[in-house]
Amino acid sequence: MILAIESSCDDSSIALTRVEDYKLIFHKKISQEFAHSEYGGVVPELASRLHAEALPRILEEAKEYLTYVRAVAVTNEPGLSVTLMEGVMMAKALHLALQVPLIGVNHLVGHIYSLFIEQEEQLPKMVLLVSGGHTMLLDVKAYNDMQVLATTLDDSFGESFDKVAKMMGLGYPGGPVIEKLAREGDENRFNFPVPLSKSDKLAFSYSGLKNAVRLALSEMKNLSQQDIADIAASFQKAAIEHLLQKTKKAFDLYNPREFAIVGGASANLRLRDEFTRECERRDIAISFAPLEFCADNAAMIARAGIEAFKRGDFIAMEDLQVMPRSCLVAV
Ligand code: KG4
Ligand code: ZN
Repeated sequence: MILAIESSCDDSSIALTRVEDYKLIFHKKISQEFAHSEYGGVVPELASRLHAEALPRILEEAKEYLTYVRAVAVTNEPGLSVTLMEGVMMAKALHLALQVPLIGVNHLVGHIYSLFIEQEEQLPKMVLLVSGGHTMLLDVKAYNDMQVLATTLDDSFGESFDKVAKMMGLGYPGGPVIEKLAREGDENRFNFPVPLSKSDKLAFSYSGLKNAVRLALSEMKNLSQQDIADIAASFQKAAIEHLLQKTKKAFDLYNPREFAIVGGASANLRLRDEFTRECERRDIAISFAPLEFCADNAAMIARAGIEAFKRGDFIAMEDLQVMPRSCLVAV
């Protein structure tokens, strides 16, 4: 089995996956969302302390499988440096204790492999990655052959939901609460601008939309529940329309036969619906990660780790470093 550790942000998770048939033997995740909720975002030092408590507790539960471990995979890039460090330290300790090789996994590659949990990989695909840290279109040919086609110039898709939720005092993370409120709201009440809609550029941007919401809020007094729902719905409509407009452009340019959406924000059902319809129109096969594996988890890191294991893509302990800012998946 591959033992995998994920601690790049606010989820502490460990998974064990069988190499031969990708079967997920053990998977546990302790989310810190509640702890960060009152701050409206993740507080790195708090997150790091909580990982230091949670990871050993999860490992204790997985103790019976340790004799079967053939390699330890850990997320070492990108993410918050102080939280990545917790997972990497545990991985190094396990490497020494179990005498098995180490694998460093890029968190974004992990999200892509959330598509293939308990499955063979099916590539090539064009992939849209939407999370709290990233918004990217990728041309994914293989584990070690992917290219970034478009990325965000500023905020990410998930982050814009978090910030809009914070402005309205709705806590963290903002994605699920905004999506829920949007179902009760009038999406045509506010005419928020779709970012870069007049630009030919294959890029994303969410800071302008966020500021448009901020401006609308500053002009309103005593927000009612209906006002909040209408803002959520109008914002979500523009945010998803932006993803669609740019992805359609990429479809025109690259003509993919298969497309997938991954990342924590790919749990958004409105997003799934709109992209499913567009792909049906174009006869492009579309897939999504299962809902339980969209957000950060170690099962996806273990699944990606198996590809590295098969390639003998190991890293020496002294070379395994935390790389908080690496965001290019291209190899
Ligand atoms: O992939 P993920 O768990 O963590 C990162 O790698 O960033 O993604 C978390 C992000 C958060 O910004 C959260 O608000 C967003 O995904 N998210 C959503 C939804 N569920 C989670 N955004 C929009 N709609 C949702 N239903
Ligand atoms: Zn993530």
